[in-house]
Amino acid sequence: MKIAITGKGGVGKTTLAALMAQGYADSGLQVLAVDADPSPCLAGALGFPDDLRAKLHPISEMDELIEERTGAKPGTTGGFFALNPRVDDIPDRFSILHRGVKLLEMGSVDTGGSGCICPEAAMLKTLFVNLMFRKDDVLLLDMYAGVEHLGRATVDFVDAMLIVVEPTRRSLGTALQIKKLATDIGLVRLFLVGNKVRNHEEADFLKDQTPGLPVLGYLPADLAVQEADRLGIPVYDHVPALRDAAGKIIDALNL
Ligand SMILES: Nc1ncnc2c1ncn2[C@@H]1O[C@H](COP(=O)(O)OP(=O)(O)OP(=O)(O)O)[C@@H](O)[C@H]1O
Ligand SMILES: [Mg+2]
Repeated sequence: MKIAITGKGGVGKTTLAALMAQGYADSGLQVLAVDADPSPCLAGALGFPDDLRAKLHPISEMDELIEERTGAKPGTTGGFFALNPRVDDIPDRFSILHRGVKLLEMGSVDTGGSGCICPEAAMLKTLFVNLMFRKDDVLLLDMYAGVEHLGRATVDFVDAMLIVVEPTRRSLGTALQIKKLATDIGLVRLFLVGNKVRNHEEADFLKDQTPGLPVLGYLPADLAVQEADRLGIPVYDHVPALRDAAGKIIDALNL
């Protein structure tokens, strides 16, 4: 099962990714969680201890590795380099494991708006395609708003793309933009997940405003989520209401 999680900034993508990753792991499945956000924070949400986190480095910042594999120094453009570098060993070599969840950080690539492909971009692109061929029971991608990481080469492998939304018109607007981008590259299994939902009116609002995007489930608004963050405890451990709601989302995906 390969699941991509996207949505507007701050809606709760990382919170959902962490809840689902731990939920799958606790049911005995092998989970690879991939932090594809340019400012990664999934390790914290999953409660990885500091000593392990110190071993986690974003792949896009591994200059020596990128040079070894692509044949060119990161940051250079215009020269020759491998567009399809070897990456198959990377997920296992550079991920860290805690409570049954393997975690990999992709990091960001600054193309300076030029759209040019540089060695580190080639590396990440190839790695995303490679991830689609992995045999882990569950692959969870915590992404940026959008689908830029999911090129046409990957869409056939994605079982579901979850677009997280808050019950606001703005976040629904972003969801519709993401839907358009996703549809353009051929992604079809798109679902909404409502987060920070306080009551039935808000849940109904999400359902009624989004024809063509089925709502897979809801996570309630709960001040204990911020409290968990302050205390440095995973939401999964600290807020049973969210853990249970994420469990229902996992069940809904399996139906
Ligand atoms: N159900 C909830 N109830 C209350 N607060 C929440 C809930 N879900 C998330 N939050 C809070 O909202 C903020 C954003 O959550 P999170 O980091 O998961 O979003 P994100 O979409 O991953 O953000 P970013 O776009 O920055 O990566 C955090 O402060 C988190 O504690
Ligand atoms: Mg996030």
